[in-house]
Amino acid sequence: MSSSKAFMMLLMLSVVSCNLLIMAASSSAGDFYRNIDVTFGDQRAKILDGGKLLTLNLDKTLGSGFRSKKEYLFGRIDIQMKLVPGNSAGTVTTYYLSSEGVTHDEIDFEFLGNSTGNPYTLHTNVFSQGKGEREQQFHLWFDPTKSFHTYSILWNTHRIIFFVDNIPIRVFDNLESIGVPFPKKQPMRIYSSLWNADDWATQGGLVKTDWAQAPFTASYRNLKANACLAGSSSSTCVSTTAEDKAWQNQALDAAGRKRLRWVQNKFMVYNYCSDRKRFPQGFPPECKRSRF
Ligand SMILES: *[C@@H]1O[C@H](CO)[C@@H](O)[C@H](O)[C@H]1NC(C)=O
Repeated sequence: MSSSKAFMMLLMLSVVSCNLLIMAASSSAGDFYRNIDVTFGDQRAKILDGGKLLTLNLDKTLGSGFRSKKEYLFGRIDIQMKLVPGNSAGTVTTYYLSSEGVTHDEIDFEFLGNSTGNPYTLHTNVFSQGKGEREQQFHLWFDPTKSFHTYSILWNTHRIIFFVDNIPIRVFDNLESIGVPFPKKQPMRIYSSLWNADDWATQGGLVKTDWAQAPFTASYRNLKANACLAGSSSSTCVSTTAEDKAWQNQALDAAGRKRLRWVQNKFMVYNYCSDRKRFPQGFPPECKRSRF
């Protein structure tokens, strides 16, 4: 090797390692290399753009998924997602918090795909101690496949709030005082997956996945956890500034309640609390508490 070639290589190497150092110092938020593990699908989950972008892919054989390396006990989790474009019928993209085991807690966003031109359904649910059955579903006020939008879960000791682009779409209050179990003891990880569910997902399973369109791709960026790490005895909260800690007592103010009402009146397509056929003996106790 000529000496000038060796020098060039040395120069390139030092530029690369310098970049790596800068990245490590500045990016804990949004670095998928550092913050997540692929749970299934192997190379169908791809980390790109130096850790800033992640794509999940679904082909005829398998989908893919990831989860956070860390476990949290309360927090505010934000992620930006761009959903499978075009004919996404039969596909489901999930983003949720979950603990482990049979009596697990879970806070769900699930995006049910649709045929081209028909709206995605955003399905939400809350499980406490293994029991869910608290579904609310929404259509969105934008096309979630055209660009990235922010989906957030706020989870404190008083309530769980689901946000889309910082607009509250659902609140699940801590109503332990009237006997409704609330998730508060089991640490949760952040999970996401893209998989085939064409036996039920789209128009009740009538519209099947069109494999000629595969692979299907959903994209993620800016995963941010302002959250308390589940520690051995006492938990440590990642947030340091006062602003970062706002989630710990956050409730909806008048403006927030107004926006929630707007979403629930205009975009909610299913609410377990108004499904009389399903609860002939009477609604679960949390349904009796008016939200507004
Ligand atoms: C798909 O589109 C139909 C027709 O607009 C709509 O009724 C349905 O809620 C949409 N979503 C799913 C998941 O079927």
